[in-house]
Amino acid sequence: AKVIFHDHEGKTREVDAKNGMSVMEAAISNMIPGIDADCGGACACATCHVYVSDEWIGKLKPKDDMEDSMLDFADGVQDNSRLCCQILLSDDLDGIEVTTPESQ
Ligand code: FES
Repeated sequence: AKVIFHDHEGKTREVDAKNGMSVMEAAISNMIPGIDADCGGACACATCHVYVSDEWIGKLKPKDDMEDSMLDFADGVQDNSRLCCQILLSDDLDGIEVTTPESQ
């Protein structure tokens, strides 16, 4: 599936990743800046925080409690904030657009 990353400066990077990979893994394997993923996807660090565009946010599975409480540790959280290690790619999410926060 295709993932489109926007950074806070407005730069856009498009990557291709296999279904079943997380958006975080897609970012790391393509060296997308702004996603650190210190915990390696265990939903325990909040350094993979992204904003999901309006178009896509409704297509994601709702946050579980763990993601919700971990997001409290992220800076600049908004309604469309998600931890991208918890977003698994599939055909439904082909072309998903996310923006990395400035503080990360
Ligand atoms: Fe640590 Fe997502 S990679 S919470």
